[in-house]
Amino acid sequence: MGEHSRSKGWCGWFLVLVVAALIVVAVVIALKKRNDNSEPDLGPVPGPPGAVQKKYGDALKVAMQFFDIQKSGKLVNNKISWRGDSALKDGSEAKLDLSKGMYDAGDHIKFGFPMAFTATVLSWAILEYGDQMQTVNQLQPAQDSLKWITDFFINAHPSENVLFIQVGDPEADHKCWDRPETMTEKRPLTQVNTSFPGTEVVAETAAAMASASLVFKSIDSVYSSELLKHAKQLFTFADENRGSYSKSIPEVQKYYNSTGYGDELLWAASWLYHATGDESYYKYVTGKNGKSFANWGSPTWFSWDDKRPGTQVLLSRLSFFGSKGKSENIQKYRETAEAVMCGLLPKSPTATSSRTDNGLIWVSEWNALQHPVASAFLAILYSDYMLTSRTAKLSCNGKSYGPSDLRKFALSQADYVLGSNPMEMSYLVGYGDKYPQYVHHRGASIPANAKTGCSDGWKWLNSTNPNPNVAFGALVGGPFLNETYVDSRNNSMQGEPSTYNTAVMVGLLSGLLTTSSVLQSFT
Ligand SMILES: *[C@@H]1O[C@H](CO)[C@@H](O)[C@H](O)[C@H]1NC(C)=O
Ligand SMILES: *[C@@H]1O[C@H](CO)[C@@H](O)[C@H](O)[C@H]1NC(C)=O
Ligand SMILES: *[C@@H]1O[C@H](CO)[C@@H](O)[C@H](O)[C@H]1NC(C)=O
Ligand SMILES: *[C@@H]1O[C@H](CO)[C@@H](O)[C@H](O)[C@H]1NC(C)=O
Ligand SMILES: *[C@@H]1O[C@H](CO)[C@@H](O)[C@H](O)[C@H]1NC(C)=O
Repeated sequence: MGEHSRSKGWCGWFLVLVVAALIVVAVVIALKKRNDNSEPDLGPVPGPPGAVQKKYGDALKVAMQFFDIQKSGKLVNNKISWRGDSALKDGSEAKLDLSKGMYDAGDHIKFGFPMAFTATVLSWAILEYGDQMQTVNQLQPAQDSLKWITDFFINAHPSENVLFIQVGDPEADHKCWDRPETMTEKRPLTQVNTSFPGTEVVAETAAAMASASLVFKSIDSVYSSELLKHAKQLFTFADENRGSYSKSIPEVQKYYNSTGYGDELLWAASWLYHATGDESYYKYVTGKNGKSFANWGSPTWFSWDDKRPGTQVLLSRLSFFGSKGKSENIQKYRETAEAVMCGLLPKSPTATSSRTDNGLIWVSEWNALQHPVASAFLAILYSDYMLTSRTAKLSCNGKSYGPSDLRKFALSQADYVLGSNPMEMSYLVGYGDKYPQYVHHRGASIPANAKTGCSDGWKWLNSTNPNPNVAFGALVGGPFLNETYVDSRNNSMQGEPSTYNTAVMVGLLSGLLTTSSVLQSFT
């Protein structure tokens, strides 16, 4: 009896448990369903710059120093103890002062194409996040570094259809291992003109000057107008004399080969539209040229060679904020920007597989970090456009993501670069306790008081000692796909920094600097 009733009781309790479990499962499914369909949480309405995230503020201060390290010419308020004046006679063979501008990477060539991209990205970062840079006193240094480049561009554009696009001969330069302050190699000039056009380099320079004209508009209106005048002339020069500089001047293929100029034309026109409000630039990007060059629907990687994703995000601004954004073709730019974002989000149905095991976007062995950092910069911009315009979600093949998902992605890439990686190393030189000691950078590898010149300086490349000078703010090429890094001075594939890497890093860090950011109109 007792036995029987216990077993009956057990049966009853079992039934109750089964029913309870079924209810729990049903509730969980219902909740999950509701969650999937509900709007992603937008969080509080963003206000002026929120609390500064010390980590990113510190990293930004480090990153910004690399621009000072790369400056050519007669330095002003030089803060880098091991740098001095250099290349003072650059441009003299054409009776021009081309002494300013920046060395592009570890050597001493001033390559106009990546230098212009550096300036455009730096302008963009200042325009979107200048108020945040200001919270850690980095706005003025950013403006000063930008002007160091645009001063050079003004002088490099002596007449409407001539632009000097390179100072120095890479072949001669690469035979030496010397400091910029003591270099003796010849510094020939390279120009593009109507007979030898260079649409991409001229258009990128137009983009740089148009975006910079917006940066300086309220600070120095005369300078801003001058930049805008050059930008307009350069755009016309680029557009009316179409031809790739890689074809006109085949020697450039070895260094910054361009895969096409259509992207730079659209990018430049987009910046000129923002800078002038002139309808003709709007029609340029939405009309026939948009159709020819925009490649709507196909996401690509933002880099010094490919400006399409940047253009898509920049033009999305019109769709998020302005009445001009209703045109069908502006929507196509925005849809393509969304396809880029969906590719970046790690859990999206269309997530790119170009990633390391630990989630770093990884596209190429050479200068691997350029892609994740540039992508994360675009992601934080897009996230802030969504937040500021109260746009709750982005749809990726039916799955919804909110601005916080994009921010999370951007943070993951920044944190990886700053040390959350299997090497437990910061790839931003000078940040954290552990960072590359053998950066491929001549100035950093040679003691400032060394007496060596062009040829005997090679002993500094061969030296097994760490660099005597720290190249603060250098963002090195970065890890292999298997997430290893060989810290060796001759390893330029992984260990060479560049101004354009630092520019996208500055953009990313400025965007992550505070806990909330609301973007403002910059036109
Ligand atoms: C035009 O540019 C080409 C390529 O840089 C150069 O060889 C040529 O001398 C330039 N033309 C003039 C008139 O300077
Ligand atoms: C430069 O790019 C063009 C266009 O993509 C390509 O045809 C050419 O082979 C490239 N040159 C080099 C040296 O890679
Ligand atoms: C540097 O090393 C290379 C090869 O490892 C050697 O050929 C060269 O002589 C060395 N140069 C100096 C200045 O030590
Ligand atoms: C990682 O990849 C690099 C480049 O492909 C290769 O040289 C290296 O041997 C790999 N290291 C490991 C530990 O697998
Ligand atoms: C580069 O440096 C590494 C280690 O310092 C050395 O093993 C290698 O031979 C060097 N390679 C060249 C091409 O000099």
